[in-house]
Amino acid sequence: MTDTAATPEPFDAVEVITAKRDGHRLADEQIDWVVDAFTRGVVAPEQMSALAMAILLNGMERPEIARWTNAMIASGERLDFSSLSRPTADKHSTGGVGDKITLPLAPLVAACGVAVPQLSGRGLGHTGGTLDKLESIPGWRAELSNERMLAQLEEVGAVICAAGAGLAPADKKLYALRDVTGTVEAIPLIASSIMSKKIAEGTGALVLDVKVGTGAFMKSHDDALELARTMVDLGRDAGVTTTALLTDMSTPLGLTAGNAVEVAESVEVLAGGGPADVVELTVTLAREMLAAAGRTDVDPADALADGRAMDVWRRMIAAQGGDPDAPLPTPKETHMITAPSDGFLTRLDALAVGVAAWRLGAGRSRPGERVQAVAGVVLHAKPGDRVRAGQPLIELHTDTPERFARAEEALAGAFEIAAEEPATTNSLIARVG
Ligand code: URA
Repeated sequence: MTDTAATPEPFDAVEVITAKRDGHRLADEQIDWVVDAFTRGVVAPEQMSALAMAILLNGMERPEIARWTNAMIASGERLDFSSLSRPTADKHSTGGVGDKITLPLAPLVAACGVAVPQLSGRGLGHTGGTLDKLESIPGWRAELSNERMLAQLEEVGAVICAAGAGLAPADKKLYALRDVTGTVEAIPLIASSIMSKKIAEGTGALVLDVKVGTGAFMKSHDDALELARTMVDLGRDAGVTTTALLTDMSTPLGLTAGNAVEVAESVEVLAGGGPADVVELTVTLAREMLAAAGRTDVDPADALADGRAMDVWRRMIAAQGGDPDAPLPTPKETHMITAPSDGFLTRLDALAVGVAAWRLGAGRSRPGERVQAVAGVVLHAKPGDRVRAGQPLIELHTDTPERFARAEEALAGAFEIAAEEPATTNSLIARVG
C-alpha cells in the first residue's frame, strides 16, 4: 500500500498557544488556522483549552477579536433572509435569571412589522434557556429546518428555534470546552461567540441586552461596558445595525425563574398584565429593535395593549406544533419560604434564585440531561416591597421534593429585610451604540 501523505499544516498549535501565553498579538493567518484546525479536529481539545485560558488571561486586541469572529463564522453556513418581504431584527441577552423577555418580545416586534429570527439556546449553569422554557408548552418543537424557519418568518413574522448544527460549529465545540475549563468569562471569547452566531444567522439589525450584576456573567459595570462596546463594533463591522443596552441583573426579572412558570408570566405580559419590570424591558427592547430596523413610526406598547402581540404568539407557538390553549404542567410538590420579620425587602439576589431554580430541576448538571418543565421559583415579593413576618416570600416548585433542601441552601442569605425603604433603582443602566 502506498502512503497518501497528508497536506502539512501551516502552523503548530503549540506555537500559537505560547504566542498568546507570552502576551503577543496573534497573526490573522494563525487565527484562521487555529479555529479551522480545531473544527476539523486537528487542534486537540486540550490545546484549544490552553489557548482559551491564555486568551482569558492575556486578552485580545480588537482586530484579533474581529478576525476570530470571522473565522468562527467561516466554520459553518450563513443564513440569508433577503427574500423576506419585511426587515429583520433580533435580540440577544447575555443571560440572566428570570430573563423570559424573548418570549413576549419576538411576537411583539413581529406584530409591529419586523420579522424576528430568534435562534436561541438551552440553559447554561444558573441561567435559564429559552428553548427549555418553551418546551414546557405541550407539543412545541425547537428544531426547524432552515426552509421551515424562513417560511414561518414570512407567514407569522417570528420564530424562536434552536440554532442548526451548521451555524458556527467552531463556537459549539469551543463553547462546550469553555464551559468545563473555567474560560467562559473572557470578554473576547464571549463577544466572538455571541456575534459569530448572530452574524451567521443573517439578521439585519441586532439589539444586545448585556446583563450586569450577581446573576450575570459580567459582575462589574466596566466589564459589561467593554463587552457591549466590543460586540457593537463587531456587529457594525459586519454590516449589522447593532446597539446594546446594559441592564441590571442583581435581582431576578419579574416574579418567576424556571420553565413553565416563566412561560405563564410571559403570557400574562402578552395579555396586558404581568410584572412592571418585565413589561418595561420588553417594550424598551422592542422600541430599540424597531428603530434599528428603521420602523420608528410604530409604538410596540400599542401592539401589546390591543392584543396583536398575543395573536402572533399564538400563531408562532402553533406553527411549531405547540398548543397555545393547553394548560401548562403544574408541579407535584411546592414549598414556601416565608418572611422572617416585618419590614421592606431590600435585596433578593439573582444568582441565588437562579441556582435554586437550577437545583429544583429547571437546569442541567450534565450535558443532555432532561430538565423538569414544572421546576422553578415564584417570588411573592420584590426588592422595595413591604413584607410582614410569616407572609409567603419565595415558592419552590419541583416534581422531586428531595431537591428542596439544596434549593433552600442556595437561598440562605439571599435576601434582606430592613426597616428602611430602599431607594428605587433603574434597571436600564446604559446604552451603547
Ligand atoms: N452566550 C453565548 O452564546 N456565548 C458566550 O460565550 C456566553 C453567552
